[in-house]
Amino acid sequence: MKLTIIGTGYVGLVTGTCFAEVGHHVICVDSDANKVEMLRRGGIPIYEPGLEELVKKNVAAGRLSFTNSTAEGVEKSDVIFIAVPTPPQPDGSVDLSYIERVARDIAGAMTSYKIVVDKSTVPVKTGEKVAETIKRYCKAQVEFDVVSNPEFLREGFAVDDLMKPDRVVVGVRSPRPVAAMKQVYEPFNAPIIVTDINSAELIKHASNSFLALKISYINAVSILCEAAGANVQEVATGMGLDDRIGRRFLNAGIGFGGSCFPKDLSAFIKISEQVGYDFRLLKEVQNINAEQMERFIKKITETLWVLKDKKIAVLGLAFKQNTDDVRSSPAIDLCQRMLKEGATLRVHDPKAMDKARAVLPNVTFVDDMNDVAQGCDAIVVATEWDEFKKLDLERSREALSAPIMFDGRNLFDPQEMEKLGWIYKSIGR
Ligand code: UDX
Repeated sequence: MKLTIIGTGYVGLVTGTCFAEVGHHVICVDSDANKVEMLRRGGIPIYEPGLEELVKKNVAAGRLSFTNSTAEGVEKSDVIFIAVPTPPQPDGSVDLSYIERVARDIAGAMTSYKIVVDKSTVPVKTGEKVAETIKRYCKAQVEFDVVSNPEFLREGFAVDDLMKPDRVVVGVRSPRPVAAMKQVYEPFNAPIIVTDINSAELIKHASNSFLALKISYINAVSILCEAAGANVQEVATGMGLDDRIGRRFLNAGIGFGGSCFPKDLSAFIKISEQVGYDFRLLKEVQNINAEQMERFIKKITETLWVLKDKKIAVLGLAFKQNTDDVRSSPAIDLCQRMLKEGATLRVHDPKAMDKARAVLPNVTFVDDMNDVAQGCDAIVVATEWDEFKKLDLERSREALSAPIMFDGRNLFDPQEMEKLGWIYKSIGR
């Protein structure tokens, strides 16, 4: 099929590339001319495992191209996906101005029937607004359908999530676009759920809020575990073996971050408020997440007493493993908090150091994780990178003034660490 994706951020670029990989002909549109030029030359603006090879392969095969002309994208395809940012506003609601702009641009370029698919995460009823906007700005009065098709990809696993989705949600107003949408997704062999547009939009916010709730739940349980002398990981494993619950997203830590969960939670609370429901449960999810960081900082200060003039080694800056993304990263928040207390920091992250430089100007970036502890008073683990489990504990212990580790992601075994002579503090154990 001929498909156009408007917006080449995380969602747009990965979606467009995976659509091309399964054989569709894809045009990716972005208003940023520099980005388009970079992509045409085979450069990738983000780090995402497996993406670069797929982009190069599909560009070479002639199935994937880039342009900054929306008109070209609209003219050459029958199905147009909107994947532009929907950033948060100061009051927690969603800024839909990019979506509205794109809807107008599409309307202005349409000369025949088009299916306009929203992939960006948007509040319920946005599809209705997009349809109204296209109708208003489309001079040619051509027919079109608006579809909601939310994206569930996780950063760091985006290609995998897209190639092997758990489900594909297609929200429609009439049956007309369903066959084309099924054709788009047929090569992915995933269950396709057809709903009305409002339900499809709600599925996305309800899913992300539920996952955030799951994390806050286990973080709350971790407080209980600490107080009672239990181990939150064993509790999570025991709970997770019940397949109604599942083990995933039950890792206690310093809280969730990233560009989705905090934003989607605030948006869902706001959306609920707008339709007359006070979603108190989700407000508590936010509170627990914020408190989790406070409790961790308290743990550090209880042991080190004053942070002023202390040298701390930090492992992890990204908001989670397998990404270079530091947006709303708990690790960055933690670094900034320790800097404010007067500590000096030596930091390491396998992928996110470049992006972190802009937000952490006064810290020392260390290339090798095994050098990070040099001359420090303690090590703090802030991101759940698997490779941190291979830290040279002997070397790090010798490099520190005292063998103290605060593990905000439960990467090490408490008994083992004690045996090795560490003063080891983790979460809920
Ligand atoms: C999330 C959703 O998973 C995805 O479906 C949606 O499309 C976008 O938002 P992402 O933001 O990439 O994806 O990250 P995710 O892997 O969900 O992790 C979010 C945060 O939760 C990270 O900060 C991570 O460290 C934290 N987390 C995750 C935990 O603290 N504990 C867990 O058990 C899982």
